[in-house]
Amino acid sequence: MTVYQATASAPVNIACIKYWGKRDTKLILPTNSSLSVTLDQDHLRSTTTSRADPSFQKDRLWLNGVEEEIKDGGRLATCIKEMKALRKQLEEKDSSLPKISGFPVHISSRNNFPTAAGLASSASGFAALVASLSALYQLSTDASQLSLIARQGSGSACRSLFGGFVAWQMGERADGADSYAVEIAPREHWPDIHALICVVNDEKKGTSSTSGMQRTVETSPLLQHRIKHVVPERMAAISKAILARDFDTFARITMQDSNQFHAVALDTDPPIFYMNDVSRAIIALIVEYNRVAVANGGKLKAAYTYDAGPNAVIYAPKENIKEIVELIVKYFPQADKFKDPFELFGAAGVQG
Ligand code: ADP
Ligand code: DP6
Ligand code: CO
Repeated sequence: MTVYQATASAPVNIACIKYWGKRDTKLILPTNSSLSVTLDQDHLRSTTTSRADPSFQKDRLWLNGVEEEIKDGGRLATCIKEMKALRKQLEEKDSSLPKISGFPVHISSRNNFPTAAGLASSASGFAALVASLSALYQLSTDASQLSLIARQGSGSACRSLFGGFVAWQMGERADGADSYAVEIAPREHWPDIHALICVVNDEKKGTSSTSGMQRTVETSPLLQHRIKHVVPERMAAISKAILARDFDTFARITMQDSNQFHAVALDTDPPIFYMNDVSRAIIALIVEYNRVAVANGGKLKAAYTYDAGPNAVIYAPKENIKEIVELIVKYFPQADKFKDPFELFGAAGVQG
């Protein structure tokens, strides 16, 4: 008997220009374009195995060993349905292919980092889900096409189907056909940029990204200013900085955009706080580190950014990473209680 099973992994991506707000909550169409860096596969990632079998009763999914409900019409159901439809098209074109599109699937996924803690687990999670189904169904669909489906699982997931520097173009169409991810530059274009992940708190956040951003869309006047007058210019400027390998501009925009995203969270009614005192202390440390560098006639040496959670991601040229880790360990001595400070402050080079 043939076993129809495939496994795929996808890394997380951390946005420099943040997606926050949907114009269509069902199709997951954003109120602004966004841009991110995808981390290397060997660091924070989701690994997902999918199996199709006619003896299964229904589609089921386990996340980190615990079954998640696949609600009718929900995000998981939509992604699985769309992937089955692509397989069905193939089967209709080529009658020699086994007809597995009608079989129920069982899916098991694991994250090797904290889930729902603001480290983009929904991004790697839905990208890995789509990638594993694509492998199971032996599709030759390109990454941008798959990103249209991953987007309907979690918006940020569409960007994790590419490595390197990736934009999610918001698109204009009501059906979402032009709202997908594109590569700005491959990882090899700028291997010198590394990412340092500082896990401040690995617990599940109080307000999910989905509900938080919806409340922001409904209540924040600042968000309206951001999407109309701020993000379009920043998208163009940061893309240019990436292509020119201009770290100073990249860092400045990344920090400004993280700040504005957390400002719109605060501008939400009731307000949302994703950062905590430790997050803010890490910002102060990086600001001071950069201030000294500039005062000595140099350029910015590091950029912080925070997703919807308290955990810091610091982008920096490789030569500065050691110094930054030393600074963080010095000022956050609770790292001492770990044998290896990297358990707390994992140094995840975007490149190995
Ligand atoms: P995060 O900041 O980690 O992205 P979100 O609030 O955006 O947090 O999303 C967390 C949710 O994403 C989880 O509760 C779960 O429903 C979904 N998710 C996380 N990891 C996976 C995975 N590997 N496979 C499928 N879904 C996942
Ligand atoms: C702050 O993609 O997790 O990380 O589309 O509702 O699943 P849903 O939200 P999600 O939001 C990500 C928000 C962010 C910024 C970003 O990744 O661009
Ligand atoms: Co998320």
